[in-house]
Amino acid sequence: LTKDRYPHVKRGDYATLDENHLRFFTELLGTNRIVTDPSQCEGYNVDWIKNVRGYSQCVLRPKTTEEVSRILAFCNEHRIAVCPQGGNTGLVGGSVPVFDEVVLSTSLMNEIISTDDTSGVLVCQAGCILESLDTHLADHGLMMPLDLGAKGSCQIGGQCGTVLGLEAVKANGEILDCLSTLKKDNTGYHLKHLFIGSEGTLGIVTKVAIHCPPKPKAMNLAFLGLDSFESVLKTLKKAKHELGEILSSCEFIDERSLDLVTSRLKLKSPLAVHPFYMLIETHGSNNDHDEEKLNTFLENVMAEGLVLDGTATNEVSKMKNIWELRERITEGLPLEGYVFKYDISLPIESFYSLVPAMKERLGESAVRICGYGHLGDGNLHLNICVKEFTQDVLKRIEPFVYEFTSKLKGSISAEHGIGFRKPKYIHYSKSHTSIELMKQLKTMMDPNGILNPYKVLPS
Ligand code: FAD
Ligand code: MLT
Ligand code: ZN
Repeated sequence: LTKDRYPHVKRGDYATLDENHLRFFTELLGTNRIVTDPSQCEGYNVDWIKNVRGYSQCVLRPKTTEEVSRILAFCNEHRIAVCPQGGNTGLVGGSVPVFDEVVLSTSLMNEIISTDDTSGVLVCQAGCILESLDTHLADHGLMMPLDLGAKGSCQIGGQCGTVLGLEAVKANGEILDCLSTLKKDNTGYHLKHLFIGSEGTLGIVTKVAIHCPPKPKAMNLAFLGLDSFESVLKTLKKAKHELGEILSSCEFIDERSLDLVTSRLKLKSPLAVHPFYMLIETHGSNNDHDEEKLNTFLENVMAEGLVLDGTATNEVSKMKNIWELRERITEGLPLEGYVFKYDISLPIESFYSLVPAMKERLGESAVRICGYGHLGDGNLHLNICVKEFTQDVLKRIEPFVYEFTSKLKGSISAEHGIGFRKPKYIHYSKSHTSIELMKQLKTMMDPNGILNPYKVLPS
């Protein structure tokens, strides 16, 4: 796979694992926490959408920061390349080895260290699974500040955008303690931010401190059908004005995306077919107040003809069914064949423009072209499904998709990162000066380049 699709990538000048290396790892972790059996290594070598495949023959499963530190110090000294891996749900090929890098899996680093009901601060190890943390917090009347479709598998260490503080291990094994739980601490450079967006190339995050909001007493969800993108924009604006402080999510689905989950996954939609759909969720502390507000909003947008059809509910099972229509699109896509995935930020008025542009460009060569995403954040997920991968289709999509985004001053990766798939396109979103500074930081923090090579930065 890697060889055919990425002929330009050459293995770096790293050591090949030998008996002495394996002996060190086994003495440190014991035989139970090192995987060398090729069939058991398989799952760690292939990414979730099966775009990238490495051939690592060694997976290490540390439990503590000190073990991570000793592994990295050893790998640094012996120039062994390391690929950090959490839940392996990443969508840009960053979490799997490209060649034979040792996989450092954080799956066993899943201890919750403390939960403070008053400040809402949770401190835990990096390998805790998002959904498990949310379940734990519910007992304390709190919730995680983020949610995603991969919540059942993805781990917190790979999602540091919202942390108060963190602990990380540098390439040379040094432990960097930025695990502050203070809301305000403006003492010098905010080093924790170096690890946000670095995708395992600057250090391995071992612990995080997260500020968790109280779990809302009331949740309401509306699902709307609309006939034009113009109506979508007007409805978004009205939702912001009329729902104000209780508006918590605004998600977007186009007709081809909804068709995917209803036809391929047999999910049931409560609405008839429309060109566009919106999910609007509210979180608040008084259900009567929130329900009334959402129903009034729904009546208004329907009376104005912006929304053709809509339903609102606060029944847990109905809300879950509606959310599945949005969250399970990702799962349906690979059933169509090969998926070209794009995760774009665009100015809100141009949010959907890439989808028709791509349909015109590709015509019949794609099985399905669809758009969905986080409308409230201006983050579109454009997905192009083809029966099978061909260089010809790839050349018609890239770099067009990035040029289009860059011209509109958008971002070529809104949330999924750069990983292995996008380093050569990073310049569409970052200036030469920024990329050079990133390279200098990489050289300073990981001089031997052992941490997640071939990822994020262009060679
Ligand atoms: P992995 O995939 O294992 O790793 C991701 C990257 O982080 C890799 O580069 C890896 O090397 C690095 N890494 C992992 N752990 C560490 C660590 N402890 N220290 C340093 N580096 C580390 N993403 C979104 O942003 N929003 C969504 O709504 C969303 N929905 C998704 C829905 C589905 C169904 C799927 C499959 C994926 C979705 N994703 C989404 C993508 C993915 O789940 C997230 O990016 C998630 O944060 C990855 O977590 P993970 O534990 O699986 O990390
Ligand atoms: C989502 O919002 O569903 C995720 O980011 C995954 C995807 O882009 O498919
Ligand atoms: Zn997303």
